[in-house]
Amino acid sequence: MSFARKDFGDNFNWGVSTAAYQIEGAHDADGKGLSIWDSFSQKKRNILLGENGNEACNFYQKYEEDIALIRQLNIPVYRFSISWSRIFPEGIGKVNSEGIDFYNRLIDCCLAQGLMPWVTLYHWDLPDALQQKGGWVNRSIVQWFSEFVECCINNFGDRVKHWMILNEPMVFTGAGYFLGVHAPGKKGLGNFLAAAHHAALCQAEGGRIVRSLCADAKIGTTFSYSYLEPYRPNLVRDCKATAKVDALINRMFIEPLLGMGYPIKDLAVLNRIERYMKQDDEVNLAFDMDFIGLQNYTRELIKYSPFVPFVNAKIIKASKRNVPYTQMDWEVYPPSIYEALKKFNSYPAIKEIIVTENGVAFKDTLQDGRIEDTDRVNYLKDHIEQVLRAKKEGVKVNGYFVWTLMDNFEWAEGFNPKFGLVHIDFKTQQRIVKDSGKWYAQFLNPSI
Ligand code: NOJ
Repeated sequence: MSFARKDFGDNFNWGVSTAAYQIEGAHDADGKGLSIWDSFSQKKRNILLGENGNEACNFYQKYEEDIALIRQLNIPVYRFSISWSRIFPEGIGKVNSEGIDFYNRLIDCCLAQGLMPWVTLYHWDLPDALQQKGGWVNRSIVQWFSEFVECCINNFGDRVKHWMILNEPMVFTGAGYFLGVHAPGKKGLGNFLAAAHHAALCQAEGGRIVRSLCADAKIGTTFSYSYLEPYRPNLVRDCKATAKVDALINRMFIEPLLGMGYPIKDLAVLNRIERYMKQDDEVNLAFDMDFIGLQNYTRELIKYSPFVPFVNAKIIKASKRNVPYTQMDWEVYPPSIYEALKKFNSYPAIKEIIVTENGVAFKDTLQDGRIEDTDRVNYLKDHIEQVLRAKKEGVKVNGYFVWTLMDNFEWAEGFNPKFGLVHIDFKTQQRIVKDSGKWYAQFLNPSI
């Protein structure tokens, strides 16, 4: 390998990311209220094989062991999320002190092990009680979310100095309120546009609240981004379709945050979001983040399709294209992360970019107590190298976090896709570090 950790400089943030519902388990322990993922996954057919996150990796009980593992892997930053319904079982109102205690113990444990906690405020597990009132479709979510953010900063802001407001708003509004394939399983354009607008307001409002309560906090929020190319580059209709999909999946949330408004010019249907706009919203959608979290896994090829409403476009799956692909049917295409970084860097208002997620799901084989996941090692190496390429060209990227620490509940796909640096035996909850985990530890070893 022709590069090393030191090529990124001493201040580059190296980390690993997780999310509450995907690992914690203990879904109804110690006063926790149900979230939309708890109820969504109890319903048959929503999740592959009917699985759910009731127990997941039991991180709620095993966090000390897992934090020790992160430490052992030489990873300095741990990004995790807070389960809103552990703190507010009803979404608002009465605080569950046992929920607060859990995150206090977790944060203190990170600090005692010398890890820097970076916390995501919302990683998709809305309290079910708030969904009963419409969830993200109800504009009151801006007040509900503000109460939650305030409570987190007041309780944890003395020790946590890096905050991310939302995780991938495009995915939770698109999959959860348009396609209905993620919790809460709602469909349709009206639900989607309302949810999207309220999420866009919350990402900015959340930033303002953190800044007002914690002056020395570094504040960011995260976005999914897939590098897109037309399936047939010489066909105008594929190029136009690609531009529309780009506006929808890559630009719709970041541009209003940067004060540019929604990308209506490239995707006309977004003008219907005006229905949900109130006075001053345009201004309130903007907030000057300290950093932007970029989450990239793949590239997508886009083909014109008259049958798909609004975008007239469809994604051509990697498995149909004779290219290497993962358990998620995502193409392995390392330059995608480079292109994503270049694109984000071209927005003048972005001050710093952190790759808050990148990683891969491949099927693993456990043999003689070992997982030789060479494909995953190569994926990580090749992507990190592309991050370095961008950095050398002057891109303001200052961090890279692997998705994810350990195999976990991959939303609608259940436990099938394996993204972890660490294997979990879900019957015994035994952890085994994969070769990829050992490789990352070696790469990060400060003495090399
Ligand atoms: C994005 C999400 O933030 C995370 O929860 C998910 O598991 C990974 N990508 C992989 O799909």
